[in-house]
Amino acid sequence: MKYSRILATGGYLPRRIMTNAELEKMVNTSDQWIRERTGIRSRHIAAEGESTCDMAEQAARRAIRDAGIESGSIDMIVVATSTPDLIYPSTACLLQKRLGIRNNGAAFDIQAVCSGFIYALGVIDKFIRTASVKRALVVGADANSKILDWTDRATCVLFGDGAGAAVVESGTAPGIYTTQLCADGYYSDLLQVPCGVSRKEGEPFVRMRGSEVFKFAVNAMSGLVDETLSAAGMQRSDIDWLVPHQANERIISATVRKLGLPMERVILTLAEHGNTSAASIPLALDVAVRDGRIRRGDVLMLEAVGGGFTWASALLRY
Ligand code: UT7
Repeated sequence: MKYSRILATGGYLPRRIMTNAELEKMVNTSDQWIRERTGIRSRHIAAEGESTCDMAEQAARRAIRDAGIESGSIDMIVVATSTPDLIYPSTACLLQKRLGIRNNGAAFDIQAVCSGFIYALGVIDKFIRTASVKRALVVGADANSKILDWTDRATCVLFGDGAGAAVVESGTAPGIYTTQLCADGYYSDLLQVPCGVSRKEGEPFVRMRGSEVFKFAVNAMSGLVDETLSAAGMQRSDIDWLVPHQANERIISATVRKLGLPMERVILTLAEHGNTSAASIPLALDVAVRDGRIRRGDVLMLEAVGGGFTWASALLRY
């Protein structure tokens, strides 16, 4: 039986840190409101000329270095992003070129907003289990600051920029037990950037009906964690770490209560990263692997909700 497993992770955050105090000077908000309603204290913001691919490259290089592999041995690249450098080529193809990888299997982007990294992991898992892919690079990267309306307090205080990456390879033991990928476009109005290429009338900024998104996220996560455990034939008590999408501490707490996990078993980066969309889970994973909390053999539940709506989970042994 073939499985896929995470060999190494890498993360990158832009140098510039924006605190809640700075936002107080830009919009009618307060540090107290942001901390109490979301858990966010600061976020990283990409420099003027710094792009999603720039951040993805840094995260990917760190993951490849820690995996101790040659980049040429990677035979598939999937980048999850909603803020690609270009309409095309894909950020994955741009990244492939930066890493000096040539004609070595598929490279493509996935657009599932905050669920993007788990979607990408799910796709890679299928390719590794059922096809000839042996080693893949999965990246979640977003330059959210470039699609924020910095006069809209309902959204600009929530997001940050960054990239996270994982080298995933084929093995004979799990690895990834299961990934659950879900979507319901019925909710597309609640969270969107209402502008694109074929329909140009909207503005290229994040628009969100926050409390409706909040309610959906809590409900979706509550059902998904049980479905994920039952798909893998596992119990809540088997989970060592929850690595959730970092959108709102109150959404995370609701999932934690549902799982009956103590808060010490949850990887939280929200306070310093804000919501980095597709980067949030791989960044959190990387932080906890590097600080030694997540160790080889630990069972991890990853879960996310994002625009679409999309929602997704992965249960894996690190
Ligand atoms: O990653 C993708 C998924 N995204 C999410 O999961 C985000 C989900 N939603 C949320 O995290 C929360 O809904 C928010 C943090 C966005 C908002 O928290 P809330 O408790 O749902 O607040 P609300 O939207 O119901 O707004 C409460 C009040 C409103 O004022 P009134 O109408 O009660 O006078 C807002 O105008 O808070 C006001 N408000 C703010 N006040 C200060 C909204 N944004 C701000 C702000 N600073 N930045």
